[in-house]
Amino acid sequence: MSPDPLAALSIRGIEKRFGSIVAVAGVSVDIKLGEICGLTGPNGSGKSTLFDCCTGLQKPSTGRVYAQGLDITGWDMHRIVREARVIRSFQKAVVFRALSVEENLVLCGQMIAFQGMASTFGVGPASRHRVRRLREQAGHLLELVGLSHMRHATAGQISFGQQKLLQFASMLMPEPQVILLDEPMAGVNPILIDRMMENINRANQEQGITFVVVEHNLDAMKALCHRLLVLSRGELIADGTPDAVVRDPAVVEAYLAG
Ligand SMILES: Nc1ncnc2c1ncn2[C@@H]1O[C@H](COP(=O)(O)OP(=O)(O)OP(=O)(O)O)[C@@H](O)[C@H]1O
Ligand SMILES: [Mg+2]
Repeated sequence: MSPDPLAALSIRGIEKRFGSIVAVAGVSVDIKLGEICGLTGPNGSGKSTLFDCCTGLQKPSTGRVYAQGLDITGWDMHRIVREARVIRSFQKAVVFRALSVEENLVLCGQMIAFQGMASTFGVGPASRHRVRRLREQAGHLLELVGLSHMRHATAGQISFGQQKLLQFASMLMPEPQVILLDEPMAGVNPILIDRMMENINRANQEQGITFVVVEHNLDAMKALCHRLLVLSRGELIADGTPDAVVRDPAVVEAYLAG
């Protein structure tokens, strides 16, 4: 099946094997531009590996990935961010612990959006101007996610939930069109979960960003997503509205089987 040039992501026959383990077993799906699509499934069903294959962390064993018709299979992560505007977050809260909250965002904008050591570390007038602009953008994003008051705090010392919000804000720094979030709400308290959902909704509605969200919290998925996909043992076993998918007997059985 040819890729849909209008889809945010067209995933075609993606398979990923690690020795004898088949982590992803031939997944084909289109993520529409502008949607918030959930991806769930039991532990070890291949969700993170599928994200890895779409974002340059792993090369698929077979299959291809397209972003709005552009074949990005096998590209490295930085090129995918810069040229295809697709970015992903990680299951663990990945922050630069020794840097301030604001510095985290500036560094993320620098490292991902630009190439070369001089530009990354702000050497030369053009880079200094860029750092000023990134700092302004960081300030705006920190307001958006409700972390302005933490701007100068050391990232390693803020709470785990706040680190997840910081990671979310970092994803917005390079102004992506598509964001893949790997368990953004895991281990986060209910109030910060609500804030995370508001942030995702706002970025979707105001900036038109497409989201794919891996999450085990099905209540959050139902409240947030337009559509829900389910992986089981590396295969896509359901694709539909969240309400229909959680009632699907094949999905219930997959969760019980683990
Ligand atoms: N680098 C790797 N080397 C070997 N096996 C791997 C590697 N990465 C993942 N796997 C295996 O691939 C399968 C899918 O793992 P993956 O992390 O994608 O699942 P997941 O759906 O994200 O699970 P969880 O809900 O626990 O995060 C698992 O059996 C896992 O052990
Ligand atoms: Mg995972």
